[in-house]
Amino acid sequence: MAPRKIIIDTDPGQDDAVAILLALASPEDIEVLGITAVAGNVPLALTQKNARIICELAGKPETRVFAGCDAPLKRKLVTAEHVHGKTGLDGPQLPAPVMPLSPGHAVDFIIETLRNHPSGSVTLCPIGPLTNIATAMQRAPDIIPRIAEIVLMGGAYFEVGNITPTAEFNIYVDPEAADIVFRSGAAITVMPLDVTHKVLTTRPRIQAFRDMGTRTGTMVAEWTDFFERFDIAKYGSEGAPLHDPCVIAWLIAPDLFSGRKVNVEIETQSELTLGMTVADWWGVTDRAANALFINEVDADGFFALLTERIGRL
Ligand code: RIB
Ligand code: CA
Repeated sequence: MAPRKIIIDTDPGQDDAVAILLALASPEDIEVLGITAVAGNVPLALTQKNARIICELAGKPETRVFAGCDAPLKRKLVTAEHVHGKTGLDGPQLPAPVMPLSPGHAVDFIIETLRNHPSGSVTLCPIGPLTNIATAMQRAPDIIPRIAEIVLMGGAYFEVGNITPTAEFNIYVDPEAADIVFRSGAAITVMPLDVTHKVLTTRPRIQAFRDMGTRTGTMVAEWTDFFERFDIAKYGSEGAPLHDPCVIAWLIAPDLFSGRKVNVEIETQSELTLGMTVADWWGVTDRAANALFINEVDADGFFALLTERIGRL
């Protein structure tokens, strides 16, 4: 089967970095048409720089990286330096990127790519706030039916929130953008905290990256060492959830995952529950199912895939 053409929309972020490395290490499964940076974990100036650092670490400096929206549609940007550190990629010391940022705005790249490729041939993989995706949909509604699928990391239901008691960070940062995307009619697969909290970086799993003896393996081990301190302190868990790589692993090995097609709507009005993904898991409403909401994963199979692929770089 031909590799799946994707655009990764991202706010690196250590877990974004692992997702991007997984995609770039899997050319038989994935063709990365471009990477679009958005403000999220850290401001845009850092997310676009971090995306280039990651591409160079993967040995893919030819990857096209675009800068996108630097703030949510209607709200002040909320960032997550408390999780990812000041640079967004705290842990190892990394040199500034040499590869250039691609000219043009990320939203224009998303629109042009969807218009210039056959309808249904490009998958969008947002792993940060949905500002770029929603802006592209608002500016060019004609692209919506041309999207093959949106596979995103965001939201939570039974697992509830990680940035507020009810909201997951990516949705919380730009709930209006998320509302536009979830109401768009595009085919959506969601990797919420309900599944990402089941892929935790344990000591043996991080050691497997160190044991590769490669620069990339060591970087991934150092990123996850840094990234996990927040979740261990907050949840008392054994390690950090590798949220964003779940999106890419789904594209490569969907059988590792399972979930349910349900209605998901976004809270945009209540300050108390702003950014909550209200999933009608038990079908108690007649609201149309608009998303495949993933809640189960074979964690050992996920890490076996991740380790094999990262070991290639
Ligand atoms: O809530 C987890 C999500 O927020 C991940 O995408 C992480 O990178 C941050 O963006
Ligand atoms: Ca992210």
